[in-house]
Amino acid sequence: MSKSIIIANWKMNPENLKEAERLFSGIIKSISDIKKTEIVICPPFIFLPYFTKAIKSEEKLIKISKKIKIGAQDLFFEDSGAYTGEISAPMLYDIGARYAIIGHSERRNPPFSSLGGTIGETNLEINKKIKAALRAGLQPILCVGENLRDENHEYLNFIKIQIEECLDGISKNSISKVIVAYEPVWAIGNGARPATPEEFYEMKIFIRKILSDKFGVKFISGARIIYGGSVDDKNVESFIKEGKADGFLPGRASLDIKKFSQIIKICETSNN
Ligand code: 13P
Repeated sequence: MSKSIIIANWKMNPENLKEAERLFSGIIKSISDIKKTEIVICPPFIFLPYFTKAIKSEEKLIKISKKIKIGAQDLFFEDSGAYTGEISAPMLYDIGARYAIIGHSERRNPPFSSLGGTIGETNLEINKKIKAALRAGLQPILCVGENLRDENHEYLNFIKIQIEECLDGISKNSISKVIVAYEPVWAIGNGARPATPEEFYEMKIFIRKILSDKFGVKFISGARIIYGGSVDDKNVESFIKEGKADGFLPGRASLDIKKFSQIIKICETSNN
């Protein structure tokens, strides 16, 4: 069985470096004996160098660096040039990041929409970002998810289009490096209900089918499909056991050392 992966999306949190350091060292303490779980921390860009250096430099962290990796929450699709304010995939790789969240719904939805979008990113831009990540050696975490579930099941087509367009032109040999995070927008944030493990499992099967039609079953055997949206220490176990989730992308729970450590512990013990 492949390892579960838990990817902490800190979003635009915490407010300062001191708090970020506190959070990070709390997480480090809780992972010393994990064996079956990979942890990826995705802090805001500005904190990235601190964590990649911290992992590299301290003697006792050398072992830990095999268990914990650093990821970015986004990147730009060009490698360098006149793109004010942007950060490229090669820059992220150089600083020590090894993963990148791409196409999060908070970036996809129209600017300042009630669904929390800030950018209005399209599938085409996301596709270019996935290619840039792979070119630079970063593992992309592609987020997909419908805004709402309609009775006519149009949302299935919506997910299919997201996946097909975002992964257009990706080589068969690269697809196993892409982690697909199913994050229904209606399940994210305060007051939202998480998807049920059954809803996730159905979607996982559906996503695997889309991937295998596009890339061939042989090439997607190692592809991981993870769940995000109100993940916490109370629901991870059922997502692993009934939902067969290959991992998780928690937001709020990743900012709480106790909850996050508990999520890791549950993944360790449930994944066998
Ligand atoms: P929450 O876990 O806070 O609902 O956020 C999920 C998410 O958007 C992770 O990318």
